[in-house]
Amino acid sequence: MAGKLYGIGVGPGDPELLTLKAVRLIQECDVLAVPGLKKEETAAYQIVRQAVPEAAGKECLTLDMPMTKNREKLENSHEKAFLTLKTALDQGRNIAFLTLGDPCIYSTYNYMHQMALEAGYETEIVSGIPSFCAVSAKLNQGLVEQSQMLHIIPSTYGIEEGMCLSGTKVLMKVGKKLGTVRERIQEETAQERKQHIAMIENCGMKNEHIYRGIEEIPEQAGYYSLMIVKEQKT
Ligand SMILES: C[S@@+](CC[C@H](N)C(=O)[O-])C[C@H]1O[C@@H](n2cnc3c(N)ncnc32)[C@H](O)[C@@H]1O
Repeated sequence: MAGKLYGIGVGPGDPELLTLKAVRLIQECDVLAVPGLKKEETAAYQIVRQAVPEAAGKECLTLDMPMTKNREKLENSHEKAFLTLKTALDQGRNIAFLTLGDPCIYSTYNYMHQMALEAGYETEIVSGIPSFCAVSAKLNQGLVEQSQMLHIIPSTYGIEEGMCLSGTKVLMKVGKKLGTVRERIQEETAQERKQHIAMIENCGMKNEHIYRGIEEIPEQAGYYSLMIVKEQKT
């Protein structure tokens, strides 16, 4: 009988934010899998290693899944990665694919999940705490209330449209887009539309950094940076 593929959300950084279900499945699965060339260098594995000592003794499949907008490269890497998972599944081994935050939000796991489903394998998605919820909590503030809308914006694909939306905006993958964000915020402020902004780089990780207000936002920040832009009540 073929094995089962679990997409396990491990939360954004703090090992204490791993769910009990994630811990149990990581302990029970025959093999782990991570997107990356060296398991120790992946954020998801680092989180798990701190919370689940048994993980260190498990085989871990490393999957070369580069982040690229080149469709052909992307598809080739996904096919290769899936072949690695398929080999283990065909051996009847259950796989815990570790993914940062929640598997349903901009996760490479989604691709593997689709391919496994199409190939007829059993799959399960295990929720994790999304980065934007953890960032909001760390900032000690809520995200939205009553009729306010919440917008999740993948900044590397352009933020211009998203920044015009009302309500609360979550800017993910924002590290290299901070110059554009700053310009937009300044334009909005000039038009009397005041925004409250805060950003966390590496939330819950070793070199966590909290930035409050546009003045503190640096020119660039690392990949694990997330900004929350809230309309300021007048
Ligand atoms: C590929 S997406 C993965 C999102 C993840 N699945 C989730 O549920 O949060 C990567 C983006 O998530 C955000 N992110 C993930 N972990 C983070 C952390 N510990 N601190 C700040 N931002 C984080 C950053 O915006 C980063 O560019």
